[in-house]
Amino acid sequence: MVEPTSFLFFFTLHLSLITVVISAKFTIVNQCNYTVWPASYNTSGSAPLATTGFVLQSGENSTVTAPANWNGRFWGRTLCTTDSASGNFSCVTGDCGSGKIACGGRSGSPPVTLAEFSINSFNNQDFYDVSLVDGYNVPMDVIPLSNSGKCKSTGCPTDLNAVCPTELKVTENGIVVACQGPCAAFNLQFFCCVGNHSTPETCEPSVYAQIFKKACPQAYSYAYDDNSSTFTCAATDYQIVFCPASNNARIIGSRWEYSCW
Ligand SMILES: *[C@@H]1O[C@H](CO)[C@@H](O)[C@H](O)[C@H]1NC(C)=O
Ligand SMILES: *[C@@H]1O[C@H](CO)[C@@H](O)[C@H](O)[C@H]1NC(C)=O
Ligand SMILES: *[C@@H]1O[C@H](CO)[C@@H](O)[C@H](O)[C@H]1NC(C)=O
Ligand SMILES: *[C@@H]1O[C@H](CO)[C@@H](O)[C@H](O)[C@H]1NC(C)=O
Ligand SMILES: *[C@@H]1O[C@H](CO)[C@@H](O)[C@H](O)[C@H]1NC(C)=O
Ligand SMILES: *[C@@H]1O[C@H](CO)[C@@H](O)[C@H](O)[C@H]1NC(C)=O
Repeated sequence: MVEPTSFLFFFTLHLSLITVVISAKFTIVNQCNYTVWPASYNTSGSAPLATTGFVLQSGENSTVTAPANWNGRFWGRTLCTTDSASGNFSCVTGDCGSGKIACGGRSGSPPVTLAEFSINSFNNQDFYDVSLVDGYNVPMDVIPLSNSGKCKSTGCPTDLNAVCPTELKVTENGIVVACQGPCAAFNLQFFCCVGNHSTPETCEPSVYAQIFKKACPQAYSYAYDDNSSTFTCAATDYQIVFCPASNNARIIGSRWEYSCW
């Protein structure tokens, strides 16, 4: 038989969990006219998401709920195949080397467009950005679903592969499938913002970073691009959209769409 006091204790504990634990829901949408294999990676000691990799055919979407205080990132993999002899799964861009659709704690190999999140972080704010520092493979937007008006969408909806400088192009069968970041391409302190160029004062946006910035003004184009590229929002859910229609980013749903316990 359950003691009334322990029942009360259980009930209040449960209530306090409801008020403290604010988790974010991510709906990943593939608006590309090709298949994308999204993947996620947990950082800063936070737990992995329930799924670390899956397939989205053109037009499909999928929702995953992040644990409270989740830190991590999402990216898209393209041109993936399963080797018929070995059963090994691999992708031309964004491959995580797991040999399976799930990345299971492995990050994507650059160049990849990254959507980075720090949920319920400093001052209970979410911090999010889309980064081209590790290069670019697919157009991507992050759309907070808050209806408060303060939370801004960010992303790189432009086809950067189309304007990628020749020396940064990654091609497959003659088609540009990704655009390298200058750090990965040249491995120089100046481009990587390390060594002699490791501070905000000595790390300047390179000519390549400026090309990225011009194409996608909201996205990180180099390591210290924080001022124009980091966004904050409190207590909301997000859409991550591959190939957003650049001039009509869709905002669907409302702020309080949390899953209920
Ligand atoms: C996808 O769209 C692009 C640009 O409109 C077009 O060039 C390409 O042929 C389309 N691919 C498919 C598989 O429909
Ligand atoms: C991601 O989560 C796993 C499992 O909890 C953990 O072992 C790993 O350290 C985390 N990764 C990072 C970079 O924090
Ligand atoms: C996700 O897919 C479902 C089923 O096709 C659709 O009803 C829904 O509108 C889609 N959501 C988004 C955000 O695209
Ligand atoms: C499987 O593919 C990965 C790339 O994702 C590669 O690194 C690995 O060597 C492959 N393994 C086998 C057994 O072919
Ligand atoms: C860093 O700066 C020092 C002092 O100016 C210079 O001697 C050195 O060559 C620089 N290193 C690189 C990798 O540019
Ligand atoms: C970013 O903004 C801060 C505060 O407004 C300013 O001090 C800093 O110089 C800016 N950094 C860059 C790289 O523009």
